[in-house]
Amino acid sequence: ELRKPLVAGNWKMNGNRSLVQDFCKSLAGSEQVDIVVCPPCGYLSYFDQASFALGAQDVSHLNNGAHTGDHSVEMIKELGCRYVIVGHSERREDHQESSELVAEKALAVLTGGLTPIVCVGEPLDIREDNKEQEFIGKQLTALFDKIPAELLSQCVIAYEPIWAIGTGKTASPEQAQEVHKFIRDELAKVGSSVAEKVRILYGGSVKPSNASELFNQPDVDGGLIGGASLTTEDFTAICQSAN
Ligand code: G3H
Repeated sequence: ELRKPLVAGNWKMNGNRSLVQDFCKSLAGSEQVDIVVCPPCGYLSYFDQASFALGAQDVSHLNNGAHTGDHSVEMIKELGCRYVIVGHSERREDHQESSELVAEKALAVLTGGLTPIVCVGEPLDIREDNKEQEFIGKQLTALFDKIPAELLSQCVIAYEPIWAIGTGKTASPEQAQEVHKFIRDELAKVGSSVAEKVRILYGGSVKPSNASELFNQPDVDGGLIGGASLTTEDFTAICQSAN
C-alpha cells in the first residue's frame, strides 16, 4: 500500500494515571497501522514500554525560554513523543490560534524531527453555505506558504469538520472522501509526490461502528479519534478497522 494507515487517539483534557496503565497493558502496537495515543502532556512520562507511539496535543512554536505554561518541541521529544497535533479546532477557538501560528508550530515540529498532525475543518455555517473547500483551502495555504515541499511531505493532515466533533454526527463516507480528495488535490499543486505521501486522517465522531466505511475511502488514510479513544476496547476496535 502507498500510505500506511494511521490512527491517533486524542484524549483532550481527559484521562488519569489509571487510564494510562490500562492503555499500556491492553493496547498493542501493530505492524499494519501506526497507532498513536495523545494524552495530556503531564501524563506522557507515565507511559512505560508502550508498544504504540505517543503524541502531544499541542506545542509551542518557540524554543526554550520565558514562556510560562508552554512546552517546547525539545521537551515533547524528550517525553517520548513522535507526533504532535497542531491546530486542533479547540485550540484555534479556545486560544485564538491562527492558521499562520499553526503553520509556525508545524514547522517547529518538523524541524525538531517529529511529525505534526495538522488539523483543518469547517464550522457548520460554512458547510451549510457550501463554502467548506474555500475555508479549508485558506487553512492549507497558510501551511503551504510556510513549509517547504520536502518537509510538507512528512506532515499528516487531519480533516475534522467542527460540526462532527463530539456531536455524534459523523460526516458520511462520501462527504469525508470529497474533502479528503480536495485536500490531496491541493497538495498535488505543491508536488505529486507530496500528495502521494501525506496521510490524511478523518476526525469527528468516529466509532467502532462507522470506522471501517470511513477508512475504506480511497483518500482516507486513518482517523483522529476523540471520545472513542478513551477506552481500550473502542480504540482497539477502531485501530483494527484501519488494517
Ligand atoms: O481530535 C479528535 C476530534 O476532535 C474528534 O473528536 O471523536 O470526540 O468527535 P470526537
